[in-house]
Amino acid sequence: MVSPSQLQSLVPCPAGPLQILPAVSGRSEVNGQGHQDATLVLSLIIPTYNEGQTLEALVRTLVDRLNRVLPDQYELILVDDDSPDLTWERGLALSYQVPQLRVMRRQGERGLSSAVIRGWQVAQGQILGVIDADLQHPPEVLLSLLTAIENGSDLAVASRHIEGGGVSEWSFTRRMLSRGAQTLGLLLLPGVVGRVSDPMSGYFLVQRQAIAGPVLNPKGYKILLEVLGRGDIQAIAEIGYVFQERLEGASKVTWRHYLDYIHHLLRLRAGGRLSHLHRRFPLQRFVRFGVVGLSGVVVDMAILYLLHTTLGFPLTRSKLVAAEVAIINNFIWNDAWTFADVSVRQQSWSARLKRFLKFNLICLAGLVLNVMVLNLVYNLIFGQQWAYLANLIAIALVTLWNFWLNLKLNWRVTQVK
Ligand code: GDD
Ligand code: MN
Repeated sequence: MVSPSQLQSLVPCPAGPLQILPAVSGRSEVNGQGHQDATLVLSLIIPTYNEGQTLEALVRTLVDRLNRVLPDQYELILVDDDSPDLTWERGLALSYQVPQLRVMRRQGERGLSSAVIRGWQVAQGQILGVIDADLQHPPEVLLSLLTAIENGSDLAVASRHIEGGGVSEWSFTRRMLSRGAQTLGLLLLPGVVGRVSDPMSGYFLVQRQAIAGPVLNPKGYKILLEVLGRGDIQAIAEIGYVFQERLEGASKVTWRHYLDYIHHLLRLRAGGRLSHLHRRFPLQRFVRFGVVGLSGVVVDMAILYLLHTTLGFPLTRSKLVAAEVAIINNFIWNDAWTFADVSVRQQSWSARLKRFLKFNLICLAGLVLNVMVLNLVYNLIFGQQWAYLANLIAIALVTLWNFWLNLKLNWRVTQVK
């Protein structure tokens, strides 16, 4: 049992809007009037729901690492949603041995994203962060994230989707669900979700001043979306990490969280920072993509001529080979030229193969679309004598479509330095 005096050492949960105050250090007279004293360098939130088993190991490791680089300049804040397994009580007991640990027991309010923000609201650090309690986020990555922030980034994200990153033993279904959610996000909210390679990450650090001010309004699990969508984030860094298997306890993700995620995307679409949503059209890239496309037409024609007219192969088979050779041609040039800045960062053969397969898939979808648009334009708008004009329009639209899909889903241009 916890005694009343022990209960007093719990951090009270703030009420009111989910808003983080800007920091003022060393001027406590303004405190309470819209500012927070920030006397520490780092405040790291550990959100928990039934994570009593792993908590101590995590806290000990974090303290061990952080004491080497930031002695006395950081705090760990446990935000527990009144877990039935009494995680908060364990945290409280631990905090008597580990003075850097503060514990908030939240009653009445629930959910991962809001828990993180409630923690940030009582935080005293200039840098705010979050890490899972279940040891799926490797603690050693934290120091690299910290270095990235100290080198001038507003946001440093631990990512599963760059070199050095990955997941350990996920089933095919789980991988597909995760990627599907990300693809949906890229289509619904490209200006936010597309800024980083792993927008689903729940392991990151952010400068307080980049998210102080606006009232935050997250839904469900994906707190990083809220930070990207409503914060004033300029420079971003990413550090690769491998998402570890869960050894204790169970994930709290349910089907409802997928619905929450879509709801959250739509909400941000309606009210996020619009500046990010309307970035300039990447004209130079599009021109290159178009030039490569034209080279593909030449290759296609030449192979068709060679196979069908010169060597006498049947038309359909010749055309299929010609089309695939043209796709390979286009892929090579787009990879080496149009999207060179993206592909130099992902040079492994498996990454290249993935891009190539995606490119094929998008081209195939483009071909189907082409035939559909051609029929539509031909039958509805022009009429028999304008078949070639109709085809030209169809090609132009499909080129734009191909370009956009490849930009958003294949050679993804994130805003990471
Ligand atoms: N306070 C609080 N309230 N904490 C919660 C709640 C809640 O309602 N729900 C979950 N948590 C805590 C968990 O106790 C754990 O420490 C952390 O949030 C992550 O929850 P998990 O249920 O373990 O999530 P996951 O492993 O499926 O997903 C994680 O992986 C993603 C990468 O795919 C999450 O951490 C994501 O944020 C992360 O990006
Ligand atoms: Mn987990």
